[in-house]
Amino acid sequence: MSEAPVICIDGPSGSGKGTVCEQVARRLAFHLLDSGALYRLTALAAMRANVPVDDEAGVAAVARDLHSEFEPAPEGGLRIWLNGDNVTAVIRTEEVGMNASRVAASAPVREALLERQRAFRRPPGLVADGRDMGTIVFPSAEVKVFLTASAEERARRRHKQLKEKGIGVNLRGLLEDIEARDRRDSSRAAAPLVPAVDAVRVDSTGLTVEDVTERVLGLVRERLGEVLGKGCG
Ligand code: C5P
Repeated sequence: MSEAPVICIDGPSGSGKGTVCEQVARRLAFHLLDSGALYRLTALAAMRANVPVDDEAGVAAVARDLHSEFEPAPEGGLRIWLNGDNVTAVIRTEEVGMNASRVAASAPVREALLERQRAFRRPPGLVADGRDMGTIVFPSAEVKVFLTASAEERARRRHKQLKEKGIGVNLRGLLEDIEARDRRDSSRAAAPLVPAVDAVRVDSTGLTVEDVTERVLGLVRERLGEVLGKGCG
């Protein structure tokens, strides 16, 4: 194998892929690409530069020029910097998330971020978290997983997360938002959320993060066992 191996985990928000990707990357001591964070960083950088998020050429220029850094955090996950500023928490706000989903629908913006994402593929290997990792960014990846969960389960998980932060929201409203976003994400023209033809579908409804992580590591052992040796045990 000439290039470092890649494990792609794609799926909708709330499928649990962020946490699963972190766990898999940690267990294998692989690099981690949080591609959603790149769309969030692009949105935040555009907002800070007063570039309207619907100005496709302007936002694509912002994406090309992004001065970002990703650093593994001691507590797990990543610490994320924009122009030397720690934006780990800021990029998770609803406002940035909403703008990220708007800039992510733009083909020139996606094109501008393509090589930056591919540059994360370095030895000993990469776990890539996103929506189009297996279809567009790393079509030759050794392992592709499409992680789903029912809309009801994803709404319940989001409800629990918000409740823990002291934010009270209506479960039915969350479910309607999730269903609307699923329709938008899977029907958009630029990189719609669809499983790669060679992806293994895993439904995380009713499973714990540990269950799903073990399932993914099982696939990694099947496909990459010889390359990784004991490392993925
Ligand atoms: O996963 P996360 O919520 O951080 O993603 C932020 C936004 O970027 C989402 O709205 C999602 O649709 C978009 N995105 C994307 N392609 C990716 C990763 C995220 O379009 N590979």
